Amino acid sequence: METINIGILGLGTVGSGVVRILQSHADKISSITGRKLKVKTVVVRDMTKKRTVDLDGVTLTDDFEMLINDDSIQMVVEVMGTVEKAREYIKRLLEAGKHVVTANKDLIATYGPELTKLAKEKKCDLFYEASVAGGIPILRTIVNSFAADQIVSVKGIVNGTTNYILTQMNQNNVAYEEALKDAQELGFAEADPTNDVEGIDAAYKMIILTQFAFGKDITLDDVKIEGISKIQLSDIKEAKRLGYNIKLLGVAEKVNDHITISVGPVLVPQTHPLATVINENNAVFVTGVAVGETMFYGPGAGELPTANSVLSDIISVTKNIVMGITGNSFNDYSHEIKLATPDE
Ligand code: NAP
Ligand code: HSE
Repeated sequence: METINIGILGLGTVGSGVVRILQSHADKISSITGRKLKVKTVVVRDMTKKRTVDLDGVTLTDDFEMLINDDSIQMVVEVMGTVEKAREYIKRLLEAGKHVVTANKDLIATYGPELTKLAKEKKCDLFYEASVAGGIPILRTIVNSFAADQIVSVKGIVNGTTNYILTQMNQNNVAYEEALKDAQELGFAEADPTNDVEGIDAAYKMIILTQFAFGKDITLDDVKIEGISKIQLSDIKEAKRLGYNIKLLGVAEKVNDHITISVGPVLVPQTHPLATVINENNAVFVTGVAVGETMFYGPGAGELPTANSVLSDIISVTKNIVMGITGNSFNDYSHEIKLATPDE
């Protein structure tokens, strides 16, 4: 069986999960794709750090040039984070004709259209299912299953760290700082958790969801953002006494002829399905004119759920390589989708 060599940028929470699944599910992946997928090179920052995955036969390096100059590597998985460094690396990888899979929502929300255009020009694939809602396959679902419908709103819990913190405060009386520390130790939080707790991570995901649902490119400046860092245990207790759970909700909806996008803490009635979404789980409500209300639920962060979404992209790229039809991304960003009016 032919081998496809893969490079990985980053071996933290998600990168380690990707290596683990590629190793433990190797036979199934080969039987689906007709190719053996081999991790050839992994680029990290700190070569002295102890690694928790089996790197037998893998080159571990802190030198990106080693990866980009290796013509035998066809596909690279970017799971290192950052915006500008990741943009620079991914542009160079696409220029070099390598397919790219990333979990980096900060990057895609900021430079998605630019990178998608470049990928297309270079006939490379660029996929990023893990960038929104971790383990929930929401991007493919919107692209494939809502293709003929008119989406009127996308709402939900799209940050695992803040949902974990709010759940611990609500159910176990855990203080905000302690719950945040737990979320960091469990690998849910960003390297710098400011974006999680201030609602910016959720805003990046809502930007991507807005592009998918409405075909509209927006920036952080277009999103009204409030985080959870000012919420106290006493607020949560009072809300609970009145029959509500506080949740950080992202909302993108059509109001008159405009799309409004916001992220902020909301009092959700305890009887509402979103109130029951606990810990690092996420839930995305998509409402379409034809289908009505749908809800997609699952883990929004964490090693293996996120890595599973990355693997779905790796498999798509592999199938496209085998069929000779690369040059794909989820969206071509070239058109604004005609919006439905409520009675259409
Ligand atoms: P992480 O645990 O902090 O790991 C980051 C990895 O990238 C580390 O191995 C680090 O190297 C490496 N790295 C950072 N900067 C680098 C550079 N300039 N050159 C080479 N290597 C570099 O991060 P993570 O949680 O796995 O997240 C990775 C990406 O996935 C981020 O974009 C994040 O937003 C996204 N994501 C994460 C989750 C999640 O649940 N954690 C879910 C969905 C999406 P060292 O190990 O040497 O420090
Ligand atoms: N820090 C992010 C979260 C990781 O907590 O949702 C998943 O994107």
